[in-house]
Amino acid sequence: MSSASLRLTLRIWRQESPRQPGAFVSYPLEELSPDLSLLEALDRLNEQLLMAGERPVSFDHDCREGICGACGFMVNGQAHGPQRATSVCQLYLRHFRDGNKLTLEPWRARAFPLQQDLSVDRSAFDRVLAAGGYVSVNTGSAPAANALLVGREQAEQAFAAASCIGCGACVAACPNASASLFVAAKLGHLALLPQGQPERQRRSAALQSAMAAEGFGSCSNQLECAAVCPKEISADWISRMNRSG
Ligand code: SF4
Ligand code: FES
Repeated sequence: MSSASLRLTLRIWRQESPRQPGAFVSYPLEELSPDLSLLEALDRLNEQLLMAGERPVSFDHDCREGICGACGFMVNGQAHGPQRATSVCQLYLRHFRDGNKLTLEPWRARAFPLQQDLSVDRSAFDRVLAAGGYVSVNTGSAPAANALLVGREQAEQAFAAASCIGCGACVAACPNASASLFVAAKLGHLALLPQGQPERQRRSAALQSAMAAEGFGSCSNQLECAAVCPKEISADWISRMNRSG
């Protein structure tokens, strides 16, 4: 083994379906380049499992660039792993030491039912957004939108809120499994823009009641959500949501 390569043990939650019991299974991996991402290490494990005629590990991913929000699971008890402001697809093996054991488990929240292994159903987020996370005004084409001036600070704040990728880490990290940070970011983004004004109050009430109806818990200011958010969405957005009703 080259001095630059790593040996890791991935202890992974395996559960074939929601109706079957799950358990952790340990998989030792050797000769891993520190330049591999954790998802690439999982790809490698899955190739080995397929070669051995076993079921590969299910985990969600798409862009692998921290953009789409598809990826997400717990690494050693932390949503998206130990690096701040990092989605799990951007977590590299160089952040770990030779011989480390990593425990990988799915988001655990009533509103995110488990599908298989590390994969959960996050369609509750889509339903919350469908309750009013959009603007109904005709915003016209791109040149028309540019004709409506928005102050620089307002635009930057709206952009910061809009950078939420909907990954669900905030829910997974919260002891109440609250979706408050996600909902507050979506509300905050639209509330700061002129196009979001006509339905502002209605949107806030609709999204918050959809959040409760989906089984997400309430916010009790634990701030775990902001600590794990890969996009560093501030918990101040939750205060703004609570003030605006
Ligand atoms: S607020 Fe952060 S942690 Fe929550 S869904 Fe958005 S990006 Fe993910
Ligand atoms: S796979 Fe797109 S954000 Fe991780």
